[in-house]
Amino acid sequence: MERTKELNLLVRHAAGKTRKRLNEENRYVMGGKMQTVQIMEETLESESNEIALYFAMSRKAEEEGHTEIANYLRDIAMDEAWHAAEFAMLLGKIKDTASNLEIMLEDEIKTEKEKEEAAKVAISEGNESAFRVFTWSMYGERNHKEGIKEALLKLREKVKSTMTNH
Ligand SMILES: [Fe+2]
Ligand SMILES: [Fe+2]
Repeated sequence: MERTKELNLLVRHAAGKTRKRLNEENRYVMGGKMQTVQIMEETLESESNEIALYFAMSRKAEEEGHTEIANYLRDIAMDEAWHAAEFAMLLGKIKDTASNLEIMLEDEIKTEKEKEEAAKVAISEGNESAFRVFTWSMYGERNHKEGIKEALLKLREKVKSTMTNH
């Protein structure tokens, strides 16, 4: 049997068993249904946190010359990103591309300002390294903001041209 098919079967079997066990356990838990959304929000948070930690640990391993471990930690970071993405979708946070870009444009504008404010606080408290990272990431957010604006413009032009071609 093809390896992916085999894996899919295994996953389905494991999921079925887990669902059965959880349903049995749930009979003893009051208000289980309402808790799910809350738990999914918290899971999105913790998965997102893990992306950052694994990615940073991968960089550390690379610095220490453990390339194989660094690559593995990077792979785990990507797995955690997939997990986080699944929960973001389940929670209804992902819309169509135009709406997603608009939402993130607002977010980048906000985070750019927040980074600037944070950099000011860091320098006033004499925290040089925090100041450097806040400033560096402020420029990063600015680039994201400009990039997203461009993507939105291109997308709108594309939509307009397909509409006039019909
Ligand atoms: Fe995970
Ligand atoms: Fe950003």
